[in-house]
Amino acid sequence: MIKEAKYRQSPEFVLDGVVPWGRRLGEYRAFFALDDLADIGPVLDAGGGPSSFAAEAARLGLQVVAADPIYDFSGEVIAARFEATAVAMREGMRRAAYRFNWRYYGSEEAIHKLRREALSLFLADFEAGKKEGRYITAALPRLPFIDGTFKLALSSHFLFLYGDALDFDFHVAAMWELLRVAEEVRVFPLFNLDGRPSSHLPGVMRVLAAQGAHCALQEVPFEFQKGARRMLSVRR
Ligand SMILES: C[S@@+](CC[C@H](N)C(=O)[O-])C[C@H]1O[C@@H](n2cnc3c(N)ncnc32)[C@H](O)[C@@H]1O
Repeated sequence: MIKEAKYRQSPEFVLDGVVPWGRRLGEYRAFFALDDLADIGPVLDAGGGPSSFAAEAARLGLQVVAADPIYDFSGEVIAARFEATAVAMREGMRRAAYRFNWRYYGSEEAIHKLRREALSLFLADFEAGKKEGRYITAALPRLPFIDGTFKLALSSHFLFLYGDALDFDFHVAAMWELLRVAEEVRVFPLFNLDGRPSSHLPGVMRVLAAQGAHCALQEVPFEFQKGARRMLSVRR
C-alpha cells in the first residue's frame, strides 16, 4: 500500500519509504501522555522500528512488545538503513526548520544525538529481545496476536504521518487491527510529514465512531511539528 519507494511527501523531506528513525522512552512518554508507567502494560509498540522504547521499558520491568516489518532484517542492516535516513533527515530538517517548534529538542544536533542513543539501546537489546519475544516481525494491517493481547497499543510516527504514502483504507484497517489486539490505541502525531494536519484523521475517526469505538483527541505535553499537540486515543 506504499505508493512508491522513493517519494516526496513534503517539499523538504525526500525519504526512502517509511524510514527507520527511532525515539526514546522519554519522548514516547510525552507523545502519549504516559505519566504513570507503573501499570500501563502489556503494551504494543506498533511500527516500533529502531526506537528504544521497548528496550528501555524492559529494563524498567515493563511488558512491551514492538512489532515492525524491519525486524526481519539483521541489526547491521537496520543500522545501515538508519545511516541513510540520518542524511535525508538532516537535509530535510534544515530545510524545514521554520516549521518546527524547537522548545523540546533545542537543536537538530540534539535530535540526532537522541536518535543515535535510541538506535544503540535498540541494537544492544535486539537479539536477546527477539528471543524473549520483545521484537516481532509484523506489518499492519495484520498482526500475529490474539484478540485483546495488549492493554495499550501505540503508534508513533507511522500512521497519519505517512498519510500520503498510506491511503485512507490502510489507516482504517490498521486502526481496527490495533483495536482488535488492544483495549486502547494511541496515535501520535496526527500531522503529515509536510507539517499539515492529516486529511485522513476526520474520516478515520468518523468510521471508527460509527461502529461503536470511542475516539478522543487529547492534548499532550509535546510539540515539534508546529500545531501538532494532540494524540488520538481510541477504545473499543
Ligand atoms: C519513522 S519510524 C518510527 C519508529 C518508532 N515508532 C518511533 O516513533 O520512534 C516508522 C516505522 O514504521 C515501520 N513500518 C513500515 N511499514 C509498516 C507496517 N505496515 N506496519 C508496521 N510498521 C511499519 C517502519 O519499518 C519504521 O520502523
